[in-house]
This record gives sequence, structure tokens and C-alpha cells, in this order.
Amino acid sequence: MPSVAFHTLGCKVNQIETEQIKEDFIVKGYDIVSFQDKADIYIINTCTVTHISDRKSRSIIRRAIRNNPDAVVAAIGCLPQVNADELRKIEGLNIIVGNRDKANIVDIIEDYDEKKNIVMAGNITKNDKLSPVLFSNLHERTRAFIKIQDGCVSYCSYCIVPLTRGPVRSKSPEDVLAELVNLLDLGYKEIVLTGIHTGFYGIDIGNINLLGLLELILSHTNEYKYRLRLSSIEPLEVTDGLISLIKEEDKLCRHLHLPLQSGSNKVLQDMNRRYSREYYYELVLKIAETIPDVAIATDIMVGFPTEDEADFEDTFALIDTLPLTHFHVFKYSPRPATKAYNLKSLVDEKGKNYRSSQLLSLAREKSQIFIKDNLGKTKKLLVERKLDDGSFHGLTDNYLEVNFVAETDQVGDFVTVKLINVDKDNDLITGNLLEIKR
Ligand code: SAH
Ligand code: F3S
Repeated sequence: MPSVAFHTLGCKVNQIETEQIKEDFIVKGYDIVSFQDKADIYIINTCTVTHISDRKSRSIIRRAIRNNPDAVVAAIGCLPQVNADELRKIEGLNIIVGNRDKANIVDIIEDYDEKKNIVMAGNITKNDKLSPVLFSNLHERTRAFIKIQDGCVSYCSYCIVPLTRGPVRSKSPEDVLAELVNLLDLGYKEIVLTGIHTGFYGIDIGNINLLGLLELILSHTNEYKYRLRLSSIEPLEVTDGLISLIKEEDKLCRHLHLPLQSGSNKVLQDMNRRYSREYYYELVLKIAETIPDVAIATDIMVGFPTEDEADFEDTFALIDTLPLTHFHVFKYSPRPATKAYNLKSLVDEKGKNYRSSQLLSLAREKSQIFIKDNLGKTKKLLVERKLDDGSFHGLTDNYLEVNFVAETDQVGDFVTVKLINVDKDNDLITGNLLEIKR
């Protein structure tokens, strides 16, 4: 059978979509090989959220062509969806397929005739439903992802995603449940629910929302020992019901990812973000007060065109006052066809770099405070792997990385550890094993 190699760029949704495609190739009997190998087929699942993502995607495509000039090379996903024409210029790239059709990439490749390159970048519509994906193999050891939703129609003024992903489509609750049970039966102990606009789960179905889905899932999986993590949701979509469910329900990870983007009301408005810094402030405090030890992650963007010095100071000050714990800092990148694209920027590249470095050092301080607050506490850990020195590595539900020593192999089990110490260079905590829970 021909061999196929994969490379994925970008978000969690893209990663899980690659896993789904990989599964299709496995079922058909293809050999999956590493991207460095000389493969017969290369599939690059691209990202276009910033110009850096574009650049990386193109460079990986070129690397595949260099690895084996005779291979069939396919670029799929977000970049083809919005910029197929630019990709056509890459000599040696045979197949360019956007998000609408990428799930059919096995068939597309099997039908491929070497004399004619394929370009498919049709519009995504409400009718492009999400189908369930049932896995036959464990891909990673302990953690698996379910794409519960795709698409976004919020049109934040900087964001290309609504153009790459189309309108909101949700996976039916029955399909989500079937996928979840399949993954739990395969032995996964942590399931992450992901989407492009996860907080809008259900709006296209009616009668169900994210909270309803979580309640449904939890009521049907009582007998399984596992935990459920939510990927990023928009601040406006965090309801009191969701906060209390996370507080009450042991299976739900005490971890929320709430993109802030900016702490200036002027910039938030220019970004079309629909909430204020005051709203975000109150929300984060309410969550932190209600859910002990909760991890609250965020995305922040610096250098949006209308962000001046005072706006940046607002962002910095807001973050400084909040118990945020994990940070993704982005430098604004103008994306063609977005509303902000033609805005003249008040800040140059040097200014953006400066603001980004300021925020990154604040971020580091904040995450270290969070770690310190957790030391001395007893936490449940999902053990992810055994390390070279024989110790074990795991993750708490509130997203802390912990190493500990144990006599017997603990990989894939929940254990209880007391968090003892932290290695300041890499934020790695050491813990003492208290109890093993199979
Ligand atoms: N809504 C999705 C994906 C949004 S893209 C989610 O749930 O995660 C992820 C992050 O990329 C955004 O939160 C934003 O901080 C960043 N981003 C989006 N467009 C950008 C741009 N044009 N320049 C820089 N960063 C951007
Ligand atoms: Fe992008 Fe805003 Fe949607 S960040 S993905 S337009 S919620």
C-alpha cells in the first residue's frame, strides 16, 4: 500500500480533523509514516489565522515537495479555503482542497490523475453537516478530542476564521455521545470538547446549548472514570449555569479558556467584540470566587490598528488585576478580506514586539503566582507518560504539569498527589504520590 505522511498547523479543531482523516487512510490500509520520511503522499492541513500561519503552511508544503518530488502533495484546510490562487503558484503542489471537501481527501487522492492538478475551495453552507467519527485505534495515549461544532459568524473585525470555516454547524447530541462512548471504551481518560465557536453549540439545532450538551453527556456516562475539558469559549457565552456545573461536577475540569483580546473598551468595540472590560473583569472574578483553584486561560492581541499606548496600558492593568493563569499572546496580523484590514495602524512592528514582550513577562508572573497558590494542595492527576528517568508526568484538571515518582506503572490512571515543589525554570511541579485510583 502507498505510504502517507501528515503535518498539521493551527488550532485543536484542525488537529482533530487530521486525526479523522488519518483514520480514513488507516481503514483503507495505507501506511502512515513520519513527515521526515520519503512518503508517497503528503497531506498538509494548513492554517491562515495570521500571516505567520500562512508562511509556515507554505514552508511545510515546500518541505514535503523537497522530501519526495515524485510524491502526491495535498494542501488542505483553511489556507486553500480563502487563498487557493496563491497556492496554485507552488510548483509540485498537486492538490488544493478547502475545508468543505477535506474530509473526502482519501477519495480525492484515489481519483487523482497525475496530469491534472485538483483545486477545490467551494463555499461552506449550513448544509455541510458534521458527521460522527468513530475511531478504531488509540492515537494519543490518554487524551482525545471531539469536534462538537464548526463555523463562526461573529466577524470580529480582525478575524479570517468566519471566512475559512463558514456558518455555525453543531454535531447532533446523539453523535457527540456516540463518539464520546467510543473514545471512553477505547480507554481514553480525558476528553476535550472543541469547536470554532464552541459557546454557540446548538444554535443551529435548537432545543440544546452547550450546558444542555454537558448535562446530557454527564447523565449518560456515569459508569466511566474520565474527565471532560472545554476548549475556548467566548466571555459572553459563560452562563451562571455553566459556572455552577463546573463547580459541582467532579468530571468537569476546573479550566476555562476565555479570550479577552483587549482590555480597552475602545479597542474591543473596534474589534467588534460586544463586551466591555468591566464585564470581563466581573466575569473572571465571579468564576474565580465560585470555583476554587480554577485555571482561567486567555488570548490577548497586541497591536490592533487602533490600539494606542493608553489602550495597551488598559489591557495591561486589567490583566494585572485578574487571577488569570494561562496566556496566549498574539501580535495583530492584518488579514485580507477582514474589516480591520484597511485600518491604518497606530503602532509599528517594534511597538508590537515591545507590547508583546511586556505582556509575556506579566503572563509569566501570573502563571507563577497560580502555581505557588497550588503548592501544598492535594490534586487528582491524570498520568500521561513515563519519563526517561523512570518518574511519571501528568496533568491536573486545572492544567498544572506535575512529575512524581511511583513504584508501579501509572500511565493512563488517575492518581492523587500532593503538590510539593516547583522548578522555576520550566514551571514543572513535583508531587508526592498519595493514592492510586484505577
Ligand atoms: N474562536 C476560535 C478561534 C479564534 S482564533 C477559538 O475558539 O479559539 C484564535 C486566536 O487567534 C484568537 O483568540 C485571537 O487572539 C488570535 N487571532 C485571530 N485573528 C488574528 C489576527 N488577525 N492577528 C493576530 N491574532 C489573531
Ligand atoms: Fe474569530 Fe471572533 Fe469567531 S475571534 S473565530 S470571529 S468569535
